[in-house]
Amino acid sequence: MVDVSKLEKIVNKTRKIVEKSREELYRLGESARLEYERTRYELDIVKNQISSIIKEVEELEEEYLKARLYLMEVSKDFNRYSEEEIKHAYEKAHQKQLELLGKREKEKMLRLTRDHLERNLKNLEITIRRSEELIANVSMVLKILGNDLESISAEIGEMQQRQALGFSIIIAQEEERKRIAREIHDGPAQILANIVMRAEYCLKLMDVNPPKVREELIGLMELVRDSLQDVRKIIFDLRPMSLDDLGLVPALKKYVEIYQNDNGIYVELTILGKEFPLENGHAVAIFRVIHEAMTNIKKYARASQVIIKVEFLKNKVNVLVRDNGIGFDVEKVFSEKQGTAFGIVGMRERIQLLKGRFEIKSSPGHGTEVFFSVPVAKRPETL
Ligand SMILES: Nc1ncnc2c1ncn2[C@@H]1O[C@H](COP(=O)(O)OP(=O)(O)OP(=O)(O)O)[C@@H](O)[C@H]1O
Ligand SMILES: [Mg+2]
Repeated sequence: MVDVSKLEKIVNKTRKIVEKSREELYRLGESARLEYERTRYELDIVKNQISSIIKEVEELEEEYLKARLYLMEVSKDFNRYSEEEIKHAYEKAHQKQLELLGKREKEKMLRLTRDHLERNLKNLEITIRRSEELIANVSMVLKILGNDLESISAEIGEMQQRQALGFSIIIAQEEERKRIAREIHDGPAQILANIVMRAEYCLKLMDVNPPKVREELIGLMELVRDSLQDVRKIIFDLRPMSLDDLGLVPALKKYVEIYQNDNGIYVELTILGKEFPLENGHAVAIFRVIHEAMTNIKKYARASQVIIKVEFLKNKVNVLVRDNGIGFDVEKVFSEKQGTAFGIVGMRERIQLLKGRFEIKSSPGHGTEVFFSVPVAKRPETL
């Protein structure tokens, strides 16, 4: 059997781990976003630096070009320019060249930095998008774990309950079968064996004492009649045929009649509302529960009177079975006879299977009252 509480524990643990992972993902996503902002800021600075350095390089290139032209001019005409001037022009050109090389190197470095930052930015963008996707997925998992598990565990709970219910009813049915087997064994089976013996005796008597045969046959007929009655009672207990043919109320009336005769207990059967045909399962369940209550009364209550009330309402049937017997301490008897008595447990379960309500009230000296209510669908043709 599935242990729901164990399953719930596992699910809760899983949920906690997943929730933690989600928090972790949030944090990772958040730091990626911060890193992204920082990188973009750096990239802006670097881009600005690059555009200003490009300008500087252009300017320097011009200056360098000018310095070279000047140097060329100076070095062509030794007469017009002094050695000092030539040297100066050369140094200036050289200086500009160095400056230009430096700036170009710097521009190259800045461009590399920019490319690097741009790559980082792209990766960070991917990380952020991924973390958002993951958070969405994890949130969905959490939702499924939260929502669906509630319904799954509810379903499992219901399944287990149904299984347990069915189980007790099976045990109760086995008990019932045992009882019926014993009844047939002690009653009709023995009588039939007796009849065979007496029939043999009649055969022998026929030659010797014919008038005695007649007497024997009359006795035999009585035996057969008794036996037939026993068999009918057993069949009725098994399943009153009138329940299928005539419905709940006629079956109950017949049952009450037999019950009064057999047990010497006065039974008052009251029907309230107008009887309408019930689904077969409902009629059988209601009859069985009343039957079990009545069996308990004859077994334990020592009652002189029983009241049975059946009330047909629009969408439910209420039933009350009350006796004026010795009563019993319900709680005490329940804990004492747990696992050995299936009558009341089975009654409750039958009613629960039909989504009905079952109550038993009793106390020593005050009789016993069994009440139950079964929701039923009124058939359209009877509306
Ligand atoms: N109407 C009643 N009056 C007095 N005692 C009752 C009455 N109904 C039930 N009890 C007590 O409650 C106990 C439990 O009843 P329940 O029908 O569950 O089991 P049971 O009759 O002992 O066994 P089973 O029905 O399985 O053959 C009975 O043994 C009896 O002591
Ligand atoms: Mg019982």
